Amino acid sequence: MTETPDTSWRAVTDLAGKSVVITGCASGIGRAAALQFASAGATVYAGDKNVADGEATIAQIRAGGGRGEFIALDLADRATIDAFVDAAVARIGGAPDIIANVAGLDRVMPFLQNTPDVWDLLAQVNYIGPVRMIHRFLPHMIERRRGKIVMVASDAGRVGSMGETFYAGTKGAVIAFTKSLARETARSGITCNCVAPGPTDTPLFNGTIPEGKLRDALIKAIPLKRLAQPVEIAHTIVYLATPATDFMTGQVVSVSGGLTMHG
Ligand SMILES: NC(=O)c1ccc[n+]([C@@H]2O[C@H](COP(=O)([O-])OP(=O)(O)OC[C@H]3O[C@@H](n4cnc5c(N)ncnc54)[C@H](O)[C@@H]3O)[C@@H](O)[C@H]2O)c1
Repeated sequence: MTETPDTSWRAVTDLAGKSVVITGCASGIGRAAALQFASAGATVYAGDKNVADGEATIAQIRAGGGRGEFIALDLADRATIDAFVDAAVARIGGAPDIIANVAGLDRVMPFLQNTPDVWDLLAQVNYIGPVRMIHRFLPHMIERRRGKIVMVASDAGRVGSMGETFYAGTKGAVIAFTKSLARETARSGITCNCVAPGPTDTPLFNGTIPEGKLRDALIKAIPLKRLAQPVEIAHTIVYLATPATDFMTGQVVSVSGGLTMHG
């Protein structure tokens, strides 16, 4: 007799026994997501360029009874990406069940003030580095014929944003990459989805749009009249990595307090 699968909400959102590789764990949304993955039962293999704060996130996970390891990662440096992937695969003993790419970088300024250095850095950290990382993990996932990839883009990549023209381009690339990869990997049982956060109360946002008139006007334009808290974005990242979303792939989920309902 075949067993009926447990489709209770508790069962389909449980990540016990799963391994997750996550980037950007030292701060903001990535830190919140690493903590949420651990609280859902996953073992977290977390990377970031900021070693001290990345290790602090893992220490917090362990202090709460969760499991995790920090592995240094600089998404602008090919050699450390390769070393990160090799270390994660060795420690997991194969493919991760989940990859959540959250790390990112922004530089807010009028497009004409951009220098090619800014383009190179943002392209590496937001797009090319994550692409390289996933390209290296993917053969392991395909071999196992299952896996979940969650990318973090931005609503800037869907609808554009003043002063973030090149950043928006990298995030648009992340969205198109997610959709195309979803098509290519579906036959291997792998889903790829993308979260597009709106304005979120993190060091990245606070560094680019400090307290003042511009920030007040932005908050006023958000239908829910506030910024997101990092954990509110993290919940959607984790949700897209659970069995609850097994039939969902190639999607972009905007979590923006209603700021961007169109498009
Ligand atoms: N905060 C927002 O309003 C907002 C809005 C839309 C999208 N996002 C996206 O959400 C993601 C998380 O952003 P956040 O707001 O939490 O920012 P954050 O600055 O708080 O965290 C970003 C993390 O990425 C890490 N990082 C930066 N460069 C790196 C590199 N070269 N290699 C490895 N790690 C690196 C940082 O050390 C940091 O821990 C980013 O992809 C960002 O583009 C944020």
